[in-house]
Amino acid sequence: MNVSDAGRLDIDAIERDVAALTVGSPIHYVPVTGSTNALARELALAGATPGTLVITDYQSAGRGRQGRIWDAKPGQDLTFSLILRPLFSPHLLTMACAVAVADALAGSAGIAARIKWPNDVLVDGKKLCGILIETDGVTTIAGIGINVGGTFTGDPELGQRAASLADVGAGALSRERLLVEVLRRLAAIYDDLQSSGAAAATRLMRQWTAELETLGRVVTVHQHDGEITGYAEAVESDGALVLRLDDGTRAVVRWGDVL
Ligand code: BTN
Repeated sequence: MNVSDAGRLDIDAIERDVAALTVGSPIHYVPVTGSTNALARELALAGATPGTLVITDYQSAGRGRQGRIWDAKPGQDLTFSLILRPLFSPHLLTMACAVAVADALAGSAGIAARIKWPNDVLVDGKKLCGILIETDGVTTIAGIGINVGGTFTGDPELGQRAASLADVGAGALSRERLLVEVLRRLAAIYDDLQSSGAAAATRLMRQWTAELETLGRVVTVHQHDGEITGYAEAVESDGALVLRLDDGTRAVVRWGDVL
């Protein structure tokens, strides 16, 4: 896959804005790679500094949650990963990424984004961003994919549940600008969590819950081995979803997809 110059990220412009952030610098850019999460892990093993941003214009083997693939349009979307050493639990990093993306969309494009449990960012009920956190217990790779310039409108099946910024009328927002806005917000939350522990976790949890669209309705959570349906009445402090089932019992769900 050849990414044309027109489809190449302006890395110098990004670098100028993120150089002072704890998250997003230094930048490791490659025009094409299999998966930025896989590349970030390799770089981390080779000694890359925590905070490093690994970014590409095209992933040939992008990874999604639960073994799925993540497809992005060459030179049009955002696919990047961060090498991090969080002192806090991975579920908080997932929440931090989702909140940072949702707030960046609101702040830079006036888009009302919502979070679908556990960590998809939706606009108009359609998925615009996916987050994949992979940890070995010490080094954590936070991978974020945002649909920016491609379009899903011609796809009868995917177009029902996925959208890009172009699809929602925000195609003028550049990938560089959006990335910087996401990194600024993520760095602020990350720094807070690293330094303030439990108090910062409470602040983040409150923000994430306020942006969660999953609560207050009947949902079905799909898991590898089945599904569970209930009224989504709360989330626990570790991000687990609390469902009230038809028979009145309470079920705490820690993973799965709300489709
Ligand atoms: C999901 O919703 O299933 C998570 C998708 C995560 C995709 C991003 S794109 C950048 C990073 N590299 C990958 O291979 N995956 C993540």
